[in-house]
Amino acid sequence: MLFYKKVIEGPVIVAKKCIFAAMDNFAQTIETWYAVNKRELPWRDISDPYLIWISEIILQQTRVAQGYDYYLRFVHRFPDVRTLAEAEEDEVMKYWQGLGYYSRARNLHTAARSMAGGLFPRTYQGVRALKGVGEYTAAAICSFAYGMGYPVVDGNVYRVLARYFGIDLPIDSTEGKKLFATLAAEMLDRNHPALYNQAIMDFGAVQCVPQSPDCPACPLSAGCVALAKGCVASLPVKQHRTKTTNRYLHYIYVRAGAYTFIRKRTDDDIWKGLFELPLIETPSPLTEEELLGLPAFRELFAPGEQPVVRLIRQGVKHVLSHRVIYADLYEVTLPEATASFPSYLKIRQEELDNYAVPRLVQLLLQP
Ligand code: ADE
Repeated sequence: MLFYKKVIEGPVIVAKKCIFAAMDNFAQTIETWYAVNKRELPWRDISDPYLIWISEIILQQTRVAQGYDYYLRFVHRFPDVRTLAEAEEDEVMKYWQGLGYYSRARNLHTAARSMAGGLFPRTYQGVRALKGVGEYTAAAICSFAYGMGYPVVDGNVYRVLARYFGIDLPIDSTEGKKLFATLAAEMLDRNHPALYNQAIMDFGAVQCVPQSPDCPACPLSAGCVALAKGCVASLPVKQHRTKTTNRYLHYIYVRAGAYTFIRKRTDDDIWKGLFELPLIETPSPLTEEELLGLPAFRELFAPGEQPVVRLIRQGVKHVLSHRVIYADLYEVTLPEATASFPSYLKIRQEELDNYAVPRLVQLLLQP
């Protein structure tokens, strides 16, 4: 009971109401709500840990509406651990193209290859040890696939708990994480962990939404501390706002007769593992004249070759989670037998579609 003492006396807004009664009602109310409002999704009501794993990795940073078709295509092509492990990484990346956070796909592939005999781990520790699987994903897989009593704590769950209990401890502080983890474990319906976990995530995603939730229609409204105190909109609290940086990319679409040049990104940076056009990055925007004068630009070309350069797109804005990218696209015409770009892959232009490229590159190349 130390925990509840801490909630009540600690630096939190929790009202001195009957938390113990709330505990009983909480899970029950959410499960009842879920019975009516459950979203029918292809990774629901299944117990194959592999399929659940794929769905959870896709949904980590992707909304259900966007992830849905990707999930279906991915598991159609890679229906089990073995198929995924035996695939080439480039093909796995192609199936992920456009979803973002590409380390998820690389990690899935690495993890599949690490599963001896194509067998998905059967213990929480085994699941948690897979590359790219954190506490949240391990809890989701183990509860949904194996019925184990691990509570999921994702953004939806933080929001529901923070509001219902009126907790203003930052969810990204050490103290906050500990408190929410303890509270989530206390609230878990240990008789039905899979049902409860699915229910609270859907409740957060559909009812207790970040902006302007419909509180009068909420079945938890009578006991919701944030609603009573008028602080629904300000919870949950996050202490660190992630800083965004601007990046300026100048892509070069080579037309060497029927051919063009691409290469694979291998550095630890955005889009690792994807292919892209030749690229120059600068710390600030550049005019065409300035780009043409850069040694890095001239060095792309074999001595004596005179490319014909045409600026096709300028300052195309592309927003990622922590970065705003401004991209230009230059078309550069060279002879088909050019000696320029020797360290790049020379492909026929129509073959570009076979390679996984960032969505930004797709957008830039659209007519
Ligand atoms: N977000 C993360 N996991 C989910 C799931 N299993 N169902 C719906 N949304 C989710």
